[in-house]
This record gives sequence, structure tokens and C-alpha cells, in this order.
Amino acid sequence: MDNRKLITIAIDGFSSSGKSTMAKKLAKNIGYAYIDTGAMYRAVTLFSLRNGFFHGNNLDIESLEEALAGINISFAVNCEGRTETMLNGENVEKEIRGMDVSSKVSIVAAVGTVRKALVAQQQAMGKEKGIVMDGRDIGTVVFPDAEMKVYVDASPETRAQRRYDELRAKGDNVTYEEVLANVTERDRIDTTRKESPLRKADDAVVLDNSNMTIEEQDKWLLDLYNKISSQE
Ligand code: DC
Repeated sequence: MDNRKLITIAIDGFSSSGKSTMAKKLAKNIGYAYIDTGAMYRAVTLFSLRNGFFHGNNLDIESLEEALAGINISFAVNCEGRTETMLNGENVEKEIRGMDVSSKVSIVAAVGTVRKALVAQQQAMGKEKGIVMDGRDIGTVVFPDAEMKVYVDASPETRAQRRYDELRAKGDNVTYEEVLANVTERDRIDTTRKESPLRKADDAVVLDNSNMTIEEQDKWLLDLYNKISSQE
């Protein structure tokens, strides 16, 4: 790392827009910490499923709220340098990425008390700056004063194809149609919910990566960081 002033980097966007991959890579390149806030909402969803708070798509919000103080989410770095999500000390990285959690997480993420608790944790994690955080409300709610804000966009079909390839590679037996339906439904819930809906912060820079390679988007992001951090 050089002696440039540490900044806060907020990366928001739709599910499966590729934002986590690029955020993670940028953090590694510039020696910053990386936080995947979607993983935190996913961990709370897994906890809710395991504890029987879901009845179909109905969430028993009261029981979840009572349990909230006992849900501890942290991140650990494995021997390959990858960050893994821990729920009350258990590594749940694999489980939170499956379709069971994916199909319920938007319901949990729409609960105001859950958001309040997780936003407070995220703000504490980023208070020293030098952090790349990705999610839906990072540039608007968690760090409205972030020096660098990116809003990542891509068509639902592009995102569904990426997610489908990812799940199939992991051995998940899903169809493209199921994944597209899940992506579209999550978009709908994430953008129309009452609590902190996904929206572009006024001062965010938009990146539509539908037709970009991973290398192109990584370079785009690093160039933007170099430009902004040299002005700070
Ligand atoms: O980025 P992801 O697909 O892992 O996010 C999972 C869900 O969590 C998604 O439905 C949106 C929600 N989320 C949110 O509401 N706010 C965040 N900061 C991050 C994720």
C-alpha cells in the first residue's frame, strides 16, 4: 500500500451483477478490507430457516427480532486467502449461497429492525476507512459520505446466466428459468421495499458491465480508485 489517504469505497447494485467479484479483487489489489454485506443478510436468513421462523414465505418477524441479539456474524479468511462468512462461530459460506437461502433472503432484508442492526455493524466495521463494502444501500445509507461510490448494473438475463453458471459449477441442480425467476423477483423486492430500497446514490458512478470482461471491469474500477484517491 502507498501513503495515499484511506478512503471508503461503496459498491452497490443488483444481485449477481458481479459486484462482489470486482469489489473483492479491488480490495486485494489496494490492500483494503472487504465486506460483503449481502452475506450478512444471507446469514440472518439461514438462521431464520434453521430456527423455523419461516412458514412458506411467511416470516415470523417477532421471533426473529427476539433472536437478533444472539446472531453473531463475522468473517474469517481461509488458508487460500478467501473470506468466509461465520454465523455464531460456524462457517456457513457454502450454505448461504444455495437456493434455499437465496429464495428467502429478500424477505429478511426487508425487515427494518434487521437492517438497523446490520447497518450499525457495517458502520462499525468501516469506521477506520480503508474498506471496500458491497451491497444495496452502502452509498445511500451505510456510508453516504463515502469518497468513492459505484452503482453496478447489468441486464437480468446476463445476471441470471452468471448465477446459473456459478450454481451449476457448484453442482446445484437448478434450471436457468428458476434462476432468472429468482433474480427478477429479488430485483422487484429489493427496489420496491419500504426500508432502504436499492437505488443509485446521486453521486455514484454507474458501471454497466453487461458487455464487459472481468479484466475490463477490474481495470475500470482500479482506474476510478486511482483517480479519486489521488484527489483526496
Ligand atoms: O448481494 P446478495 O445477492 O448476496 O444479497 C442478498 C440479499 O440481501 C439481496 O436480496 C439484497 C439484500 N441486501 C440488502 O438488502 N442490503 C445490502 N446491503 C446487501 C444485501
